[in-house]
Amino acid sequence: MAYGAGLSAIGNTPLVRLEKLVPDGAAEVWVKLEGANPTGSYKDRMAISVLGAALEQGRVKAGDTVVEFTGGSTGSALAFVSAVLGLKFTAIFSDAFSYTKQQAMEAFGAEVLVEKCVDGAITHELAERMKARAHSLAAQPGYYYADQFGSPDVRAGYQPLGREIAEALDGGIDVFCASVGTGATLMGTLDGLRAAGGSPKVVALEPTESALLSTGVAGAHNVEGIAVFPAPPFLDRDVLSDIRTVDQDKAFEMCRRLARIEGIFGGGSTGLNVCAAIDLAVELGPGKRVVTISCDHGSKYLGGRIYS
Ligand SMILES: Cc1ncc(COP(=O)(O)O)c(C=O)c1O
Repeated sequence: MAYGAGLSAIGNTPLVRLEKLVPDGAAEVWVKLEGANPTGSYKDRMAISVLGAALEQGRVKAGDTVVEFTGGSTGSALAFVSAVLGLKFTAIFSDAFSYTKQQAMEAFGAEVLVEKCVDGAITHELAERMKARAHSLAAQPGYYYADQFGSPDVRAGYQPLGREIAEALDGGIDVFCASVGTGATLMGTLDGLRAAGGSPKVVALEPTESALLSTGVAGAHNVEGIAVFPAPPFLDRDVLSDIRTVDQDKAFEMCRRLARIEGIFGGGSTGLNVCAAIDLAVELGPGKRVVTISCDHGSKYLGGRIYS
């Protein structure tokens, strides 16, 4: 199905090798720059997968309103794809997340309903409140719940990401590491890597401040998009070789170093991913390859604590 000009710009993002931040004697570190997608994040891949399938299968029709609770990246992607497909979009958002993400959703014509946070923190309680509001809205006629935590089309949307990496590196990947929100990116990318013949070790990442996967204990943190739910719906723990934590302040410091030293401009989860990727590369040594993802574009975080 032909969808429209902007949608054809999703995917085929650059894959770059870190040149200066990786110490001598370490493995190569490659970073997929997903900020190059139209709304500046890899969520564009899942939005077209979810809404394209829903439209093709008649679960939603032009004029209906798509609903999701979101930290803003998924919301921006759903707002963008909904606009092009002739759908309306309502986001349940919070003031715990970047205001620029709210503005981006509104730029694509979305309605944004804001749940108030406590002390600026992203917490499990906040996520549950946002979810309940999204569910009650989506229960009304003419509304469609995008279901970023349950739809099988979410994970499928990231398969091309893995295939693109495998093709660019001719399959030679020793470790793939990425931070986990729903787990869809980690698992969908792995599906794509495997479909192209790869079999990397897989390392899941999370902030030390909310080490849910490692300890089961949630905490307040500021790395947007990750470490909120105790059981990420798409994560298959059996495929993991390891789970690692990174301090959020180290992740944010890495964001600034990435921007100033390598010219890679990403958000907090990007800094977290690259911190762990470099550590893994040092442990692996020369002749090996670590791949990770720059999840979204740093311009989404201007005015927040990462860059100011
Ligand atoms: C900036 C950012 N990084 C990482 C993630 C985690 O991705 P996933 O939910 O696919 O695990 C998200 C998800 O919302 C995100 O917005």
